[in-house]
Amino acid sequence: LSPTGCRASPSLALIKYWGKRDARNNTPATPSVAVTLGGLTTQTHVTLAEQDRVTVGDDPQPSARYEAFFRGVRAFLGCRHGFQAVSRNDFPTSAGLASSSSGFAALACACVWASDVEPPMSRLSELARLGSASAARAVWGGFVLLPRGARAAVQLWPPEHWPELRILAVITREGAKGTPTRDAMASTRAHSPYYRAWVRSSRRILPEALRAVADRDLERLGEVARTSSNRMHAVMLASRPPLRYWTPESVAVMDVCAELRGRGVGAWETLDAGPQVKVLCLETDRGAIETALGERLPALRVLRAWPGAGVQRV
Ligand code: DP6
Repeated sequence: LSPTGCRASPSLALIKYWGKRDARNNTPATPSVAVTLGGLTTQTHVTLAEQDRVTVGDDPQPSARYEAFFRGVRAFLGCRHGFQAVSRNDFPTSAGLASSSSGFAALACACVWASDVEPPMSRLSELARLGSASAARAVWGGFVLLPRGARAAVQLWPPEHWPELRILAVITREGAKGTPTRDAMASTRAHSPYYRAWVRSSRRILPEALRAVADRDLERLGEVARTSSNRMHAVMLASRPPLRYWTPESVAVMDVCAELRGRGVGAWETLDAGPQVKVLCLETDRGAIETALGERLPALRVLRAWPGAGVQRV
C-alpha cells in the first residue's frame, strides 16, 4: 500500500434520505439531494494491517459497523489483507453533523487509492455507500443527487454553481449521541404508520428541490428543504416507540429562524439525526443571522460552511 490520506467534507441533505430499500446492500428508499459542506473536514489515513481497525479521534470504532464495507472494498480490490484507518474530524463527531458521510467517503477513497487503483468516482461512491448511504454523496463536491434505490450518487453541479450559499451549523448540544441512524431507520420503517407516505412525499418534492438549486432560489430551496426535514422528523415521531432528535435548544433555533424570516431575512432550518440545526442562508444575510443567534442564544456555537469540494488526496 502507498501511504494515502484523504480529506472529505460531510454531505448535508436538503431532501433527506431516511429508510432503506434494501438493507443488505444499503440502498436508499428515498431520493436525496445534498450539498457538500466546505469548511468542515474529515481526514483519514490508511495503512495495511492484519485486521481491520478504525479509530475516529481517539476512539476505536466497533468492527461490526465496518464489516460490510471492508468486505465490499476487498471484493473490489481483489485483496485479502486488512486496513488500519485513523480518522479525525474538525467538527463534532456523531452529533448529527453527518460525520459518517465524510468518514466513509474518505475511508473508501483512501483504501482504494492506497492500493494504486484509480476507478471512476461513481465506483468510489458505490463503495462509500456500503458504509453509509449518505457517504455515496460525500464523495462528490457541490450539489449531489442520490436517486432512490441507487448504488451511486451523481454530481448535479460543482460548488462554483452557487458560491453565495451558506450553511450555518448551530451546535445546540456538544457531544450529543442519540439513536444511531441505522437502528432509527429500521424502527421507523417497521413501526411508523406514516412510513409509506414519507417515501411517497419525498419523491414528490424532489423536482421542486432540483429546480430551486438549478435556479439558485434560496427561498424555494429553504422552503422545500424545511418540508423534507420536518416530514422526516414527523415520521420518526409517529413511530412506536417514538424517535425524537429535537431538543428545546433545537426548537429555540427554529424559532429564531422563523422570526428572521418574518423580518425578511432568509434563514431556513434543516435537522438530521441529532439536535444540531443547520441554517441555509445567503452570505449577504449571514451577519444578521449570526447576530440574532448570538443575542438570543449566546451559549450556542455556530460553524460556517459553504458548497465545498468532494474527496481529495492529502
Ligand atoms: C438524517 O447515511 O448515516 O442524515 O446509510 O444507515 O449509514 P446509513 O445512514 P446515514 O443516514 C443519513 C440520514 C440523514 C439524512 C441524509 O443525510 O440524507
